[in-house]
Amino acid sequence: MAYSTDFLIIGTGISGLSFALKAAKIGKVTIVTKKAKVDTATNLAQGGIAAVLSEEDSFDLHIMDTLRSGAGLCKEEVVRMVVENGPDRVQELLDIGVHFKTRTHDTPLLDLGREGGHSARRIAHALDLTGREIENALLQKVAETPNIRLLENHLAVDLLIGSKAGVKPSENRFDDLCLGAYVLDRESGKIDNWRAKVTILCSGGCGKVYLYTTNPDIATGDGIAMAYRAGARVANLEFVQFHPTCLYHPKAKNFLISEAVRGEGGRLIDEKGFHFMEKYDPGGDLATRDTVARAIDTEMKGSGDDCVYLDISHKDADFIKSRFPNIYQTCFSYGIDITKEPIPVVPAAHYMCGGVLTDMWGRTNIENLFALGETACTGLHGGNRLASNSLLEAVVFAHQAYLVCDQEKDIILGTPFHDSPEWSTGKARMINENVLITHNWDQIRRLMWNYVGIVRSEKRLNLVKKRLAPILKEIAQHFRDYFLTPDLVELRNIALVAELIVQSSIHRKESRGLHAITEYPAQDDKNWLHDTILSRSDKTIQSSLLGPDEHE
Ligand code: SIN
Repeated sequence: MAYSTDFLIIGTGISGLSFALKAAKIGKVTIVTKKAKVDTATNLAQGGIAAVLSEEDSFDLHIMDTLRSGAGLCKEEVVRMVVENGPDRVQELLDIGVHFKTRTHDTPLLDLGREGGHSARRIAHALDLTGREIENALLQKVAETPNIRLLENHLAVDLLIGSKAGVKPSENRFDDLCLGAYVLDRESGKIDNWRAKVTILCSGGCGKVYLYTTNPDIATGDGIAMAYRAGARVANLEFVQFHPTCLYHPKAKNFLISEAVRGEGGRLIDEKGFHFMEKYDPGGDLATRDTVARAIDTEMKGSGDDCVYLDISHKDADFIKSRFPNIYQTCFSYGIDITKEPIPVVPAAHYMCGGVLTDMWGRTNIENLFALGETACTGLHGGNRLASNSLLEAVVFAHQAYLVCDQEKDIILGTPFHDSPEWSTGKARMINENVLITHNWDQIRRLMWNYVGIVRSEKRLNLVKKRLAPILKEIAQHFRDYFLTPDLVELRNIALVAELIVQSSIHRKESRGLHAITEYPAQDDKNWLHDTILSRSDKTIQSSLLGPDEHE
């Protein structure tokens, strides 16, 4: 079947929903999401959204903190644009009905939190459930807005591309043209052509490439993988951010202990109670996230301990319970009373600072294809994202993308829909052994965790490349042999993203920001002060996942 929509948005996190609300003023919007609409990283965000919101803060300070955290790779004009847009976008969220915490009940002044790398209090929050508050408010607004249709259980599989449909981009600055996406309807099992004038990739990050992650299960790098397969340029995938403090407990799957806990005085200690962060950085517990995660990794490797501890028990118990109700309750349910004892924590994969390369407007090198949120690499984060800058980036770039679409709306709406070939299943058959998928999935995640983690080595990177090769070949074969299932689609995506992360990490022969490699311990500005850009047309990787007959 073929369906048509003016704007096809892939993902229901903060960037997709924010863009949808604005784009609905221009044309018909369809949002597809692969599971339930609340299955997003936004919904799990605890800390909040960073913006200059008090007299004691300034744009220059926020810009300086972002640049310092980004280790030389941020694009200064992007940082300035995002920071200067911050207060207006936060106001829009307030107008939509997001209840950020205020200092007292009867004041409009926001209660601002602090996190690592920030030199001022600037995090607007809803205690430790900020993401849920934002997600709910946006979803409610979307439900009330005419012109928006939201389809759950619709998994985008691949992009519809002009070069495969005999249509060329309108300007030669673009390498191809996006015509929409192939979308798998999980209920019917059918893959439909969704034709769109503008396609927005905002399907989140790729934490599930790693064995331990704070991310929800949906974070399988779908947007990055689809874009790369379609010929989009992807950048800086070696910069994987590991959050320093994920709860360490056998029954807890991916529970984050917000950096705001350290912002309110929480201290990292080892098994013996020794406070170790000052050894690593004058910023101590509030050093930037790359430094803190590496310090914990070093401590754990040195001591052989399974975790370190985050202690906030010296603060008033009522304050802890009211400021961190979700963290308090969740830890309590695992038998840890954080008002009385330290919390066992370990670092876990948290955020992809790289992604699909965009300009200041969220546009990619493929005409009518935008990337927003964690899927994108806009130039804001550089080599290490400053805490709570991601929700900010999402709303600012959703607005930027809307502005450019609004400016070009006559051209966009006047362009006809184009037909693309239907999805071909070839000689595929039903997969009857899901273990073929789960085993590969598990192997990739373990390899990535053990070989491409917080501190890398060239030796391990080359080994993982070799070990991934036969697994990728097998997945490519499954893709040809079997009907697509959601698990197979996701496996193919994490496999490709893993390969791209490895390739990017091998490429960068220096340590910078989140990319630490033992053979090249120093930052080398002379040779490496630039993005790592990969694209299918460069043929830098000869992936077996990119055969000409992927799904014919
Ligand atoms: C946190 O609450 O620590 C996460 C905030 C972020 O990732 O920016």
